Amino acid sequence: MSKKQIHLNGFAQNTVSPHAIGLWKHPEHEGHLHGTLDYWTKLAKTLEKGKFDALFLADVIGMYDVYKNNYQTAIEQAVQVPAHDPFLIISAMAQATKNLGFAVTASATYIEPYQLARKFSTLDHLTKGRIGWNIVTSYLESEAINLGLNKQIAHDERYDRADEYMDVVYKLWEKSWEDDAVIFDLENDCFADADKVHAIQHEGNYFKVPGVHLIEPSLQRTPMLFQAGASTRGRDFAAKHAEAIFTNTQNTKDAIPELQAFIQDMTRRLEKNGRHRENVKIIPAVVPIVGSTEEEANKKYQELKSYVSYEGAAALLSGHSGIDFSKLNPDDYVENLKTDAMQSRLENYTSTDPNHKWTVRDAVLYHGFSLGSAVLVGTPEQIADELVTLSTEGGVDGFNIRQTINPGTLNDFVEYVVPELQRRGVYRKEYEGKTLRENFFGKDQKQLTQNHYGKHVEIKEKLQSL
Ligand SMILES: Cc1cc2nc3c(=O)[nH]c(=O)nc-3n(C[C@H](O)[C@H](O)[C@H](O)COP(=O)(O)O)c2cc1C
Repeated sequence: MSKKQIHLNGFAQNTVSPHAIGLWKHPEHEGHLHGTLDYWTKLAKTLEKGKFDALFLADVIGMYDVYKNNYQTAIEQAVQVPAHDPFLIISAMAQATKNLGFAVTASATYIEPYQLARKFSTLDHLTKGRIGWNIVTSYLESEAINLGLNKQIAHDERYDRADEYMDVVYKLWEKSWEDDAVIFDLENDCFADADKVHAIQHEGNYFKVPGVHLIEPSLQRTPMLFQAGASTRGRDFAAKHAEAIFTNTQNTKDAIPELQAFIQDMTRRLEKNGRHRENVKIIPAVVPIVGSTEEEANKKYQELKSYVSYEGAAALLSGHSGIDFSKLNPDDYVENLKTDAMQSRLENYTSTDPNHKWTVRDAVLYHGFSLGSAVLVGTPEQIADELVTLSTEGGVDGFNIRQTINPGTLNDFVEYVVPELQRRGVYRKEYEGKTLRENFFGKDQKQLTQNHYGKHVEIKEKLQSL
């Protein structure tokens, strides 16, 4: 029987040092060049050399200003700011590669669905079917107040609204233009058959979109859908829509039962939506630190960690958790925190194990280095062992590879860990298909599967005047 295959995403964000706060100071880190196309095309080529499925681009459209109730620390310590637009770097990377996919984050809370559908269809054409969408509903108050609201929409309502948002975009992507609408008929001066292009006439609680999609069908129609819902409402949303689900994980030993429980829960939710476990890829994030010996890897880990900015990391965790960490005593234990704010981001740092209790200080520093993901430190063989264990015993389908420094983290991974995974027969040596969905689900799986909700949205009869 063939071995279970691992999928890989490179994890980035269009900012200086997105997921390792303070590492912008490291002499080998080139994050300050993220405003240049060369930086991104180089990264894309490295990932394609390593046969990665995709580059995942995270994004937020606001400041981390929960810490001390202002944005000073975020600005001073480059806490995901400057925050350049992730969409605008994709065409250049697509031109520099052939198979690598691009999963880009966009907020269903702050971008109009009609506009978002157009952006993704444009990119699906330009990339020849290599675009994916990480659907987020956003979490920072600073996003809400700069994007037209007085305050954030409540957490669960953001998802209710996003559910209707998905109806709108599925109607545009899947139902507006029939496959053979473009006829390119020179003799009759007719580019496309208007009878085969339909107005979606959507009218719901949150959105009114009467018209036709502005773009003819692309290879994937709907971009491949990624999501990272952790809450009950978020998991339901993922079970209905996502084709890949991001999750976090701590070190391997603790992670396995947690991942198994998560997967069991998601499988149950998928079945409720007429879908199956094999319809989604479950992908935790890890931070690899590779050395030629264990000792060298550990030394590298200590050296990299020494660049973390405590205050910047605290500002990041404050934004993620909604709790102002400047008010906490660094020596207190995380589980003793009494607060009404969102706690899910802190669950990584609560533990029933008396030998491994997280103080506020330790949690901040760890979060600043890895955003709470597992840090895998060792030789290529040791790291491959851990990834294979998480895949076979934990049941996950692949990994988001988080960077500490660029290009160092991904160069090392592609140079040393990828060949080890290939040697073990758990990772591709060549790409099988051409589109992003094919990278994850195999050749000829270009579009949503028939049991996906998005295939079954209905539109009313067309209305020519729209
Ligand atoms: C690996 C990973 C990447 C994420 N990337 C983003 C992002 O780029 N932008 C964003 O607003 N939220 C991002 N999130 C947050 C999720 O969208 C989601 O809000 C979070 O996992 C909490 O789940 P909940 O909304 O169901 O409570 C990410 C989460 C994970 C685990």
